[in-house]
Amino acid sequence: MASEPVDVWAMADLVTPFAVRTAATLRVADIVQDGPVPLDEIAKRSETRADPLGRVLRFLVRRGIFTEPEPDVFGPNEASRSLQSNAPGGSREWLDLDGAVGRADLAFVELIEQVRGHHPAYRAAFGRSFREDLAHSPQLSDSFDDLMESKSGEFVPSVAASLAWDRFDQVTDVGGGKGVLIAEIVERYPAVRGTVVDLAGPARAAEDYLESRGVRDRAEVVVGDFFDPLPAGADAYVLCDVLSDWEDEDAVRILTRCAEAAGPESSVIIIELLPDPDGEFTETDLRMMIYVGGRMRDMDRTERITAAAGLFVAAVTTLDDGHGIIECLPDR
Ligand SMILES: C[S@@+](CC[C@H](N)C(=O)[O-])C[C@H]1O[C@@H](n2cnc3c(N)ncnc32)[C@H](O)[C@@H]1O
Repeated sequence: MASEPVDVWAMADLVTPFAVRTAATLRVADIVQDGPVPLDEIAKRSETRADPLGRVLRFLVRRGIFTEPEPDVFGPNEASRSLQSNAPGGSREWLDLDGAVGRADLAFVELIEQVRGHHPAYRAAFGRSFREDLAHSPQLSDSFDDLMESKSGEFVPSVAASLAWDRFDQVTDVGGGKGVLIAEIVERYPAVRGTVVDLAGPARAAEDYLESRGVRDRAEVVVGDFFDPLPAGADAYVLCDVLSDWEDEDAVRILTRCAEAAGPESSVIIIELLPDPDGEFTETDLRMMIYVGGRMRDMDRTERITAAAGLFVAAVTTLDDGHGIIECLPDR
């Protein structure tokens, strides 16, 4: 079967990604969103130097992002609009070099160190782990919580719609972040009560978020560490995009805490991206490896870690975006 030739040189280019990320970080697309703006003004508003900024923007114009209708004046185009802040389906916040994920991407320059077995890439790049960075920096931590919330856009409603969550009286979202999924579930199923368990920072954000969604009366927040015993008595314990942050041994410890809290009658529900033909799974696998030393898992591997925690996979629902909702029960 004929396939497209692979342009390895273009694939390995670092100039374009860094130019795009620099423009994203400086919010140039926001500055020019209403029409062409002189370079000096863009430099002033982005607190940068006009000469290097102009050279970056001229390069991006050649790549099809922004326009230069007259010398040293830059304007928007369709491509630049997707770099505006909060653009629907946009990428600015993910590419922002001052944000949690844009910064973490910079650790890829140390991929070779990790592959050679010398150092974890993130620590080699920044001197401490991703989690230590979030714990030290409220700005990075808030940025990460916001990115997790934005990722949730279409995904969370589809998770809430794809399972009959009203089978459960009480759902506990372990490592539930700001509580976006719990808010969606209790909003959609008025008889269900929810709990978010997370570390202190995200738990604080969850209190505010659940309040803002008007579901605080049916959704509580518990500050907790999922390596410690979890609040018992829920009918379902959810781990959404949590286990892929961890290597197998830690993932089994987290699952074991969920299984202990769940007892003999309740479900543990894992939500993770499953292997796909277009490569998102393998790309995310590398990101997990570099950012946090985690990994993506196919169903065989997921079944191995659930079995090690005393659970078995009872049902899998696959979502259009490639995530699986994997319902596990105690293996009695
Ligand atoms: C990738 S985020 C997923 C958040 C949320 N479940 C979602 O799908 O958007 C991982 C979450 O695990 C939380 N987390 C990390 N370590 C934790 C720990 N030891 N105990 C409890 N939560 C933890 C993080 O704070 C973060 O909210």
